[in-house]
Amino acid sequence: MKLRHSDVTPQHLYWNRRKFLSASAATLGSLALSPFAGAAPLNASKTGPLHNLGNNQLPPKNILTTYNNFYEFGTGKDEPAKNAPAWKPNPEWPVRLEGEIANPKTIGLAEILKLAPLEERIYRMRCVEGWSVVVPWIGIPLSAVLKQVQPTGNAKFVAFESFYDSKVMISSGKAGIRFPYVEGLRLDEAMHPLTLLAVGLYGETLPNQNGAPMRLVVPWKYGFKSIKSITRIRFVDRQPMTTWSVEWPEAYGFYSNVNPKKPHPSFDQDAEDRLDGSGILGQGRKIRTELFNGYAAQVAGLYTGLDLIKNY
Ligand code: MTE
Repeated sequence: MKLRHSDVTPQHLYWNRRKFLSASAATLGSLALSPFAGAAPLNASKTGPLHNLGNNQLPPKNILTTYNNFYEFGTGKDEPAKNAPAWKPNPEWPVRLEGEIANPKTIGLAEILKLAPLEERIYRMRCVEGWSVVVPWIGIPLSAVLKQVQPTGNAKFVAFESFYDSKVMISSGKAGIRFPYVEGLRLDEAMHPLTLLAVGLYGETLPNQNGAPMRLVVPWKYGFKSIKSITRIRFVDRQPMTTWSVEWPEAYGFYSNVNPKKPHPSFDQDAEDRLDGSGILGQGRKIRTELFNGYAAQVAGLYTGLDLIKNY
């Protein structure tokens, strides 16, 4: 599928809308009954590492919402945008928190959104397939949720599971990967201030195809770590299974930190197509890929002494 400039929302509309972000949480989702209604007010004045955008131009919104990987709704990039909107996620969105924690519990979306003020975080995202994009996410630090349940000393990793319902999503056989989609982080990675639980993008509630109502965002790792539509978070003592490292272990490891020095069997990792609207989708600006996707100053300390080629 190819998008041209004329097909997409001009960026100045987004920048105008941004001005309203601080007005009230109701701008997200707009409905009074929205789970966002009870949330803390948006804090759009927060300055993230990329708020001074420099070369990192925001893409037209439609690139983010029509060019997706969400295998539960089809394996073609254009399929999630066609198939996911018909899905009606439970508005209460109960998330199970369990495993090595003092307080196992089920917590709903509305309660999660009260744990920390919503923030806008503009992150570069790097897909293993060789493209990258800058995304204005809305969310809360994942740590705000994890702290709530008091991990025990045995909690070393956090395992995440996506929602799966064969009545509205395609079968594992058709997708070519096992469902539910699962992912994992080391506890210190999960607690890192850059790790976001995203509930929106471009100042609006997350569209289904982007992982509604809540997804992980880990900007220094390849995009597939950013698991969508999370329903279960389990604290564990051992490295958990992750979808792509099970499906193709030679290509995908547990860490999956962006690393231009670690080749992938199918895709170039030392350069990337930046989808910023400057070209037709798939033919963006070619730029060099940076270690940890450019977030080394913030995250390199997590990996001191770890061989990043062996631990890919
Ligand atoms: N989460 C689930 N549940 N299912 C998926 O297929 N795809 C991953 C990740 N999270 C995926 C998922 C991959 S491969 C990528 S690149 C990103 O979501 C894509 O996110 P985006 O569509 O918002 O760009």
